[in-house]
Amino acid sequence: MRRASRNGNRPEVPVDRAAKAGLDLAVRIGPLRLANPVLVASGTFGYGDEYAHVLDVARLGAVITKTVTPKPRAGNPPARIAETAAGMLNSIGLENVGPERFRSEKLPKLRSLGATIIASIGADTPEELERLLAQLAGEPGIAGFEINFSCPNVAKGGARYWAVPRRLERTLAGLRARTRAALIAKLSPDVTSVADLARACEQGGADALTAVNTFVGMAVDLGHRRSRLGRATGGLSGPAIKPLALAKCSEAVAAVRIPVIGSGGIMNGRDALEFLAVGARAIQVGTATFVRPRAAAQVLEEIAAFLAERNLAGVNDWIGVLRQPASPAALRAAGPRRSAPRTSAARHRAARAAR
Ligand SMILES: Cc1cc2nc3c(=O)[nH]c(=O)nc-3n(C[C@H](O)[C@H](O)[C@H](O)COP(=O)(O)O)c2cc1C
Repeated sequence: MRRASRNGNRPEVPVDRAAKAGLDLAVRIGPLRLANPVLVASGTFGYGDEYAHVLDVARLGAVITKTVTPKPRAGNPPARIAETAAGMLNSIGLENVGPERFRSEKLPKLRSLGATIIASIGADTPEELERLLAQLAGEPGIAGFEINFSCPNVAKGGARYWAVPRRLERTLAGLRARTRAALIAKLSPDVTSVADLARACEQGGADALTAVNTFVGMAVDLGHRRSRLGRATGGLSGPAIKPLALAKCSEAVAAVRIPVIGSGGIMNGRDALEFLAVGARAIQVGTATFVRPRAAAQVLEEIAAFLAERNLAGVNDWIGVLRQPASPAALRAAGPRRSAPRTSAARHRAARAAR
């Protein structure tokens, strides 16, 4: 018997029960085979071990760690968080412990929990990014890297700097030549054409894309006649951005052949299923974790329940099911698809040739 959930008539089906029912939740993201499509978004799950007491992080598709930069960063001045009607603004400014402490303190803890680890890295220039990757590439337990090309809250090396297709392509080619680990490029939505950036990343040799990071937003404190954030603007996340992020994700899916990971306002299983329906191969849970610390586990349970109810064999039977694959505008923006190198060896050859 399925239990009725406390918050409505959605049934709760624990994932292990779904597994017993023979559901195949595994997805392929380039060279990665993830046990399921539910990932936690960078910066919203700390370095991963902080949540081990509320959920089994080894059961997630992967944990994406807080973005690490070449040197530790203190982040932006307060206030760094502001709540809005349907989401939150943040201007954390990539506060992080830096690569040394990440490697010696944070990574071993997360590794010991059995999590699939995707390390998020960010830097001000392509050269810095290459050096940072070289520092971390040999670390045991890192299955892949998500490259943060999209932080809206830093003066240098943020979303604006990386919103140049040729720069992205060359940077990814440089990174590709240095590692066989999965490379996932995380894109900003605040650009004229996500499709152009997506194609550039594919050409550079990215294994996958994450679409999308936060949208630039602002809120005003009327009493003090100031922005509610220490830095005037911040990144908007949560339910407010879901329809926007879904459209951007769908645009990226239409533009490339490599897998796209959906992110933006996913609060529950149904939100996740919408992203998967437009063709995202996996999804990330971000702000929802601040509302409900077990949110990612719940999203996974709800996806499994939905698939089981429809007698589907697994999640791959749901990915890309949208009858109308992308909006006409998205298809126009996507333009003709260029063929991407398919095998890992071909990607390495292409990356070497691009350098
Ligand atoms: C407090 C906070 C910190 C974040 N820090 C990072 C970060 O360090 N690196 C990154 O790539 N994205 C960061 N993000 C963006 C999230 O990973 C995610 O892409 C975004 O919040 C959209 O998803 P959501 O609406 O589900 O939260 C952060 C978001 C929030 C709310």
